[in-house]
Amino acid sequence: MKIEEIFENNQKWVTKKLGENADYFNELSSDHNPDILYIGCSDSRVSSEELMGAEPGNVFVMRNIANMVSSLDLSAMSIIKYAVSELKVKHVIVCGHYECGGVKAAMMSTDLGILNPWLRNIRDVYRIHKDELNAISNENEKYKRLVELNVQEQCINVLKTADVQLGIKKRNLTVHGWVFDIHTGKLIDLKINFDKLLKDIQEIYRLD
Ligand code: CO
Repeated sequence: MKIEEIFENNQKWVTKKLGENADYFNELSSDHNPDILYIGCSDSRVSSEELMGAEPGNVFVMRNIANMVSSLDLSAMSIIKYAVSELKVKHVIVCGHYECGGVKAAMMSTDLGILNPWLRNIRDVYRIHKDELNAISNENEKYKRLVELNVQEQCINVLKTADVQLGIKKRNLTVHGWVFDIHTGKLIDLKINFDKLLKDIQEIYRLD
């Protein structure tokens, strides 16, 4: 994609939006009230808004390598805090995807420099679920399952934060774990049982 193309496309988009609604940008700029916080991978093939059919204003977005939620990541913690306490989103979605390069890299014994501490969080997911993963003989199936388990563990990291715990208790905030199947284009709800997960982790991570 060429840079000039981007500005041409942008102009076409502005013209199209104004053609549909002359007040579009006045309305867009007057309010920020998304219902959803989406945490996904930076992978260029997983364009979050497009695959959800979302419009500007619908989704608060955070993307990083392999859709990680780390308590040491000031950006992630600030985004969750702002989305949940200030914007008061109704849903927090963690969305992974098959063929995730970050997850693949974490399955290999390679020194990737500054990426090591980031990918180590995924290696920790592998360690937690080692028995299940090592029982899968097909490498591709194992890779897919690690993508799913990584989503589950990042959802748990979301649940560990005080703001999310309060949101669940006070106003029915819900957390969702999804995978984008890059082979079919479909979003898959992993249907993670958060009530059970919460009960299991509550005695350790409960903050009130
Ligand atoms: Co990825």
